[in-house]
Amino acid sequence: KLLKAMKEGAIVAGGLEPYGDRKALEDFAKAGVTGFAMELMPRITRAQAMDILSSQANLAGYKAVIEAGATFGRAFPMMMTAAGTVPAAKVFIMGVGVAGLQAIATARRLGAIVSATDVRKATEEQVKSLGAKFVYVDLAEAATAAGYARELTAEEKAKQAELVASHIKSQDVVITTALIPGRPAPTLITKEMVESMKPGSIIVDLAVERGGNCPLSKPDQIVEHKGVKIIGTLNLAGRLAGNATPLFAKNIANFLDLIIQKDGSLKIDEADECISSTLIAKGGKLVHKIYEAK
Ligand code: NAI
Repeated sequence: KLLKAMKEGAIVAGGLEPYGDRKALEDFAKAGVTGFAMELMPRITRAQAMDILSSQANLAGYKAVIEAGATFGRAFPMMMTAAGTVPAAKVFIMGVGVAGLQAIATARRLGAIVSATDVRKATEEQVKSLGAKFVYVDLAEAATAAGYARELTAEEKAKQAELVASHIKSQDVVITTALIPGRPAPTLITKEMVESMKPGSIIVDLAVERGGNCPLSKPDQIVEHKGVKIIGTLNLAGRLAGNATPLFAKNIANFLDLIIQKDGSLKIDEADECISSTLIAKGGKLVHKIYEAK
């Protein structure tokens, strides 16, 4: 209905879920609108101010730790009191992208003992610079030219699972953020691994929208499995709306600056990488290379 109400040639720029429901995307294109999926913004310096994934993931990473802390029945920092010592919580972050880095920093600020893992080698230095321990599976480089992670081979997955299984048993809080563009989220925590965790432990699955990093997590629910709570809250950034909205709006405004000239006229310069990478619908069709038949 909304699409029918739109003028042909109208511009829609926003979170369009370009890897989502193909039929809905085709209908969107058929409505004749020019669509920019901001999720496809390239990972180049100039694009940072328009990157909705980064601005929202950063908030989600922070909020994931806050939600975990609120649900966890114990404190994060070590406290030495006359009545005894409260041990520091052990927090493990899986996937060290924008959300993961903010989660590490937040958990550290709260006094937890933090460890983290990723398949991209470049993250080791970042994790260490935040004062966390890096847990690394020795793999061939898993970063793509676009700066994202590739999907692991079956053998690599098994290697990773072995390491995670041994580390996770001792953790109080695990926050998973691992995503692969255009693919379902990789399974990082199996049911058996959850069962190896101490009762009272918490998992926050930030990848739940894309199938989850743990098969037990459910969208917008807190699932309890053998004493372990698995938080699958959707859109954590939206729970910080007072920050999420202005950052999102600024991302879009910066993009509009790119396509609207000083005199108010439109200029969609497809030679510009930030435009060609995000343009998914034009002239009634889906036009992005991600829709080309393989
Ligand atoms: P993402 O949201 O796509 O994924 C989150 C993290 O999960 C990534 O670090 C990824 O390597 C990791 N991951 C994927 N599969 C995994 C697995 N099986 N096991 C463990 N970890 C796994 O990533 P995000 O946050 O969007 O960032 C990706 C990269 O792009 C980062 O290096 C980030 O710094 C960079 N970046 C660059 C920008 C720019 O220059 N404009 C803007 C935003 C991010």
